[in-house]
Amino acid sequence: MSTIHLKVNGESHTLEIDPATPLLYALSDDLALRGPKFGCGLGQCGACTVIVKGQAIRSCITPVSAVQDTEITTLEGLGTPERPHPLQQAFIDEGAAQCGFCMSGVMLSAKALVDKVPHPSEQLIEQALSGVLCRCFTHTRMMAAIRRYAAGGVR
Ligand code: FES
Repeated sequence: MSTIHLKVNGESHTLEIDPATPLLYALSDDLALRGPKFGCGLGQCGACTVIVKGQAIRSCITPVSAVQDTEITTLEGLGTPERPHPLQQAFIDEGAAQCGFCMSGVMLSAKALVDKVPHPSEQLIEQALSGVLCRCFTHTRMMAAIRRYAAGGVR
């Protein structure tokens, strides 16, 4: 066990934890965050995606020791049910969710992209979403939501 400091959604946390513990487990088990999901545990489905240093990363294969003292953003760091983030509002407006399991990964992948490239091409959006699997197949609506968000200019 080691003492690990995590900064998640603007709050600091100190955990006594094995430094090799996947970040996803610390977020869900220790910090009770329900945004990042366990899908495959192998870095292949994208359900566990969070943003670290502006990059969408797979928290299931990232040890907590690798992200110490780095700002980590999960879905909970975007908006609230009462005050959704403009990206979340765009997904609501486009009805771009079915089961919702992949939504956290999709939104955080899209946010990381639009933060970097404010007006991304279709190809860039597809590329950003290519690592997040959605079995409900609402890709068309997700693409529309991301375009709407990018066009809105509100961050
Ligand atoms: Fe992390 Fe699938 S749970 S990529």
